[in-house]
Amino acid sequence: MVDVDKLKQELKKINDEAAKIREMAPEKRAEFGRMINAKRNEILSAIAEAEKAAINEDSVAIDITAWSGTNEPSPEFYPAEMGSAHPLMKELDIVTSIYRMMGFDVVESRQLDDEYHMFDTLNFPKEHPARDGYDTFRTEEGLIPPAHTSTMQHRVLKQFKRNLDEDKAISVVVPGRVFRNEDVDATHEHTFYQCEGVYVSSDCTMGQMLGILREFFEKYYGQKLNIRTQPGYFPFTEPSLEFMIEKPRDLGGKKGDFLEMLGCGMIHPNVLKMAGIDPSKYHGFAWGGGIDRLVMLKYGLPDVRYFESGNLKFLRKFN
Ligand code: DAH
Repeated sequence: MVDVDKLKQELKKINDEAAKIREMAPEKRAEFGRMINAKRNEILSAIAEAEKAAINEDSVAIDITAWSGTNEPSPEFYPAEMGSAHPLMKELDIVTSIYRMMGFDVVESRQLDDEYHMFDTLNFPKEHPARDGYDTFRTEEGLIPPAHTSTMQHRVLKQFKRNLDEDKAISVVVPGRVFRNEDVDATHEHTFYQCEGVYVSSDCTMGQMLGILREFFEKYYGQKLNIRTQPGYFPFTEPSLEFMIEKPRDLGGKKGDFLEMLGCGMIHPNVLKMAGIDPSKYHGFAWGGGIDRLVMLKYGLPDVRYFESGNLKFLRKFN
């Protein structure tokens, strides 16, 4: 039997070795990088193989010709093992309950959308190259499995517009599954989860947005965090920011180790206008970021591909 823990130690060694690339002469880096990646991929597939083999060893053969004599399945042949929620679904529940406590409504996104919600309502100019930046899949009918949960912004704004007439804010989060036509590796999946936030009122500010985001991340990771922003670009916000947190020490972070967690900004007046909201009276902010990444950091998971793998050993760790 292959020892998975040993393979994981090897993987860690390789990852440590990879850090040496920073001290290398530039002309040596490419070859070193290729060598490291080749070793890393070899170990990753050995881990996947070993885990698959271990699951096969554990599985019980079912005699489909056996009949228990009653119409009830015999427990002997159908060992009772309860299923459980997928770790991402459990974490999404935590994410949405933190936002609920902060007063947000929750609306789920859909898994098939269209050009209009993916681009037009988000102020992407027609025929603009920014439309290519999201690696979108398309069905033969021309529909789009959403590449981000921002596809729901227009619907949320229209659905909750009446809040504004009653002098209340629009405050909604939208968790959902998203899809991108990307090369898959340890940090990229074609299928992953995001959570979007939308807030509109007559007097909201960017300071409020940063306060909400800080509060969310501190609740999720259960500790005070250092946060940082840097300028970003999204057609649907102006100004746009990238929001980062300093990787907590107890999760392996060092000082100055900032991780980008999401994109955010003040909602572009055109996006409000298209939903029938007067941008001279109301302002909004919005944000959206990956859930997989959030969970990987919390549990120190090295590879995003575990989530979609259906690997039972992995899933049982979260029971
Ligand atoms: N949808 C963006 C992405 O997936 C992230 C994002 C940026 C969402 C800015 C927002 C926002 O709501 O305001 O890259």
